[in-house]
Amino acid sequence: MEILKVENLTKSYGSGEAKVDALKNVNLSIKKGEFVAIVGPSGSGKSTLLHLLGGVDRPTSGKVYINDVDIYNLKEKDLSIFRRRNVGLIYQFYNLIPVLSVKENILLPAELDNRKIDKAFLDDLLKTLVLKERENHLPNELSGGQQQRTSIGRALINRPSIVLADEPTGNLDSKNSKEVLELLKLSVKKYNQTLIMITHDNNIALQADRVITIEDGIIKSDEVI
Ligand SMILES: Nc1ncnc2c1ncn2[C@@H]1O[C@H](COP(=O)(O)OP(=O)(O)O)[C@@H](O)[C@H]1O
Ligand SMILES: [Mg+2]
Repeated sequence: MEILKVENLTKSYGSGEAKVDALKNVNLSIKKGEFVAIVGPSGSGKSTLLHLLGGVDRPTSGKVYINDVDIYNLKEKDLSIFRRRNVGLIYQFYNLIPVLSVKENILLPAELDNRKIDKAFLDDLLKTLVLKERENHLPNELSGGQQQRTSIGRALINRPSIVLADEPTGNLDSKNSKEVLELLKLSVKKYNQTLIMITHDNNIALQADRVITIEDGIIKSDEVI
């Protein structure tokens, strides 16, 4: 089943002499449950694509459908609600709130959505991400790997159907990197989610079901592993 469809997606920044065509007519279809790695040189348009897939930014032209919803046809307010419920975002830098505990950081998106806290799900998530023993710690009391696992928990708490990660292990040493990747793969599988991850690490890309290579704003190759 197709969960995500991209049609003729184009994004340009700036104008005149300073105009940059970051994405040029990209077409793409992603199936539910797929783990897709996006690779390519720096400045090739990977983050631009990921942001557009997640409804974080608006395209210059073209369409993105998530679960058959034409997301850029939604009004700004509806798009932000749709995004909060359907898309989980993970970045290289964890962006945790320093004065909130692990548990409070993870619960934040659920509270923003005025959701009743599903205690059992929170507990399951903390256990899956091996954070149960750290749930009351503050971010500065955690290792980089634990901080990233907390940001993964925050991305998953609203049970999004799509998880987008932009170099999630880019700031971690190899041991933490491996651990975070394993736990992320385990979680998305457990919660039946689709994972799209930008990485510059070939070993990580090879663990995906599919690797898309972006160069100069276009899809250069798209291979099933
Ligand atoms: N907000 C922005 N304003 C102007 N140019 C941008 C902006 N964001 C990205 N770009 C440009 O778009 C191109 C693609 O950037 P990006 O998607 O961040 O690439 P990648 O993630 O592959 O490194 C680059 O040339 C970059 O300089
Ligand atoms: Mg980038």
